[in-house]
Amino acid sequence: MKFYNREKEVKYLKTYCQLEPNSILFVYGPKSSGKSTVMRKVIKELENSDIIFFYYNLREHATPTKEEFLSIFFEKGDKKYIKNNLIIDIKVCKFGVEEEWDINNIKLNDVFRKIKEDINTVIKDGKKPVLIIDELQKLKNIYFNGNNKEGKSLLNELFNLFVHLTKVRHLCHVICLTSDTLFIEEIYQSSTLENASKYYLIDWLSKEDIKKILKEEGFSKDEIDYCINYLSLPYEISDLIENKKLGLSVEETIRQWINLESDRLKYIIDTSNVEEEKIYNILNKFRDKITLDYKKEINKEEIKYIKFLINNEILFYDVVNGIIKPTSIKKWYAIRELI
Ligand SMILES: Nc1ncnc2c1ncn2[C@@H]1O[C@H](COP(=O)(O)OP(=O)(O)OP(=O)(O)O)[C@@H](O)[C@H]1O
Ligand SMILES: [Mg+2]
Repeated sequence: MKFYNREKEVKYLKTYCQLEPNSILFVYGPKSSGKSTVMRKVIKELENSDIIFFYYNLREHATPTKEEFLSIFFEKGDKKYIKNNLIIDIKVCKFGVEEEWDINNIKLNDVFRKIKEDINTVIKDGKKPVLIIDELQKLKNIYFNGNNKEGKSLLNELFNLFVHLTKVRHLCHVICLTSDTLFIEEIYQSSTLENASKYYLIDWLSKEDIKKILKEEGFSKDEIDYCINYLSLPYEISDLIENKKLGLSVEETIRQWINLESDRLKYIIDTSNVEEEKIYNILNKFRDKITLDYKKEINKEEIKYIKFLINNEILFYDVVNGIIKPTSIKKWYAIRELI
């Protein structure tokens, strides 16, 4: 697979990994903007540096239980950090634990002690540990020391550990990626993470970058002029190239995208329990513009409907910049077709 552009983002994250750890970094952005791909690229480019990456992609797992969380994060063996052989394209590690570890009877404190020990070993070996968790929100419903709400929420406790590792002790970077922007909103408001977290947006590709890529890929000026208004995400470019090889014009591909998106949107609205009229009132706000100012253009009664559209990946809420927009430009056209 080709990797397009994203020089600025790769540079930012590479530099970030090499600075002294001081806060937790949350990487967020619209669905499919390329967050995971950029992160992998960064790991790849730093493969031969003094950094040891502990990388966990929870996207690959169904909603994990406590036991699954432990088996995802830890590997039994005689080393403190062990190469993860299941990930083949990048060099990343898992935390090591002794063979005797009894996954069914472990306390959260022991889990955290293990993580700290392993991180300290990396540092003692003269290397820099960086912990990356993709789709962290998947750990939301795991509780230790008692079932459900009586126990300790793993995620809350992890945040305390992350603050300790970064802001307090400066031992290890912690980078969390998520495609769930309502989760980012929760975090943004949380007091544990106040002054202890940073946010980095991986957004749509810029028009100039898309133009450059299309030119390099051999698209004509007319084709570029036509499709430039519809494109925003990297995979759309790959799709356009593939379809061209298969004999579809850019007009046909884009027509298909918009039809598909507007059908999907209509289906979501038709099959939900949310009041249709209220949803359309929100969508109507996008008739003449692509972004809304959260503070000025959304009132309290509308939030429920906005959240519905965000949960269904139709809208993207950028909590840091206070704006709401469709998840892609083609989605914007689909919305306008429907209203
Ligand atoms: N810079 C890029 N060049 C080429 N293809 C890319 C690039 N970035 C992303 N892609 C492609 O776009 C698709 C989505 O990318 P990726 O999964 O990294 O996005 P994401 O932001 O992590 O998505 P999600 O919000 O679902 O987590 C993938 O098929 C990926 O190969
Ligand atoms: Mg991702």
